[in-house]
Amino acid sequence: MTLPTRIILDCDPGHDDAMTILLAAANPAVELLGITTVSGNGSLEKVTYNALRMCAVANILVPVAKGANDPIAGKASAAPSIHGATALDGAELPEPTFELSPLTAVELIAKLVSESDRKVTLIPTGPLTNIAMFLQAHPELHSKIEHISFMGGSTERGNWTPYAEFNIWADPEAADIVLRSGLPLIMSGLNITHQALATPEVLDRISALNTDLAHTVVDLMKFFATTYQDVFNMPDPPVHDPVALAIIIDMSVAKLISAPVSVELTGELTRGATVVDLYGTTGQVANVDVAMELDVDKFWNLLIEAIDTLGKRQ
Ligand code: BDR
Ligand code: CA
Repeated sequence: MTLPTRIILDCDPGHDDAMTILLAAANPAVELLGITTVSGNGSLEKVTYNALRMCAVANILVPVAKGANDPIAGKASAAPSIHGATALDGAELPEPTFELSPLTAVELIAKLVSESDRKVTLIPTGPLTNIAMFLQAHPELHSKIEHISFMGGSTERGNWTPYAEFNIWADPEAADIVLRSGLPLIMSGLNITHQALATPEVLDRISALNTDLAHTVVDLMKFFATTYQDVFNMPDPPVHDPVALAIIIDMSVAKLISAPVSVELTGELTRGATVVDLYGTTGQVANVDVAMELDVDKFWNLLIEAIDTLGKRQ
């Protein structure tokens, strides 16, 4: 029997981060060791509160630790235009049922990784600040990291500036540290996450589960749909973050190609853009498995199954 992959989710919930929490807690192919938070979609306080509220709504009991407030260089910036004033608008969520860990995100990641008797996979779905800080503070634990599967960047254009995707734009220096780490990296950028659309058919399937949790998820997704329509003129919102986890659960969910990836740190117009060398023109060594094409049915089946499992446990 294959043992479940041990994972730590580093996130900034956020609607699509919230879906990743559900998938991480429910799918038997992974064992969720803990959740750490980073400011991004909202302030650190808001996204941490949201992580705890998502644990409460789905009866999830894992340590949750608060991480970085500001990026490695500069000041934090939020994305209220996409996720609303609370960073998770659209549904009534219960108050947290347990206390935050007294550890910082970096301390909790280090503790969980060092205590594990097998390798651990990190799933960052927000700016990469905590992950970069962990890698810098704990070189002795690099060998215990199986993969870092992150949502961020793009092989194409951006969503926060014309060429930068939000998570990488929010902390390009952290992304640079991760990309140069030499660890096995999997990148789920906008080029693939824009295939993970919460269409009306998907929402109907979730509604049909007919649990309190399923209705909460639909309410959250409906809010997310309104902002994606307003800001990006996209009728169905892309549920970016769970793609990075779905790939770890089932590698056949996406087609991956190995490529050299760097982040633009100094570009006047393109700071935070991921530069993905798809055709080997730079002659650099591939450092990332880049997710290219999503098996949309498999992806939604995993997510809907997770919502069903957790909804029935309540
Ligand atoms: C990323 O930015 C956030 O708004 C989402 O949660 C996702 O992680 C998409 O660019
Ligand atoms: Ca996110």
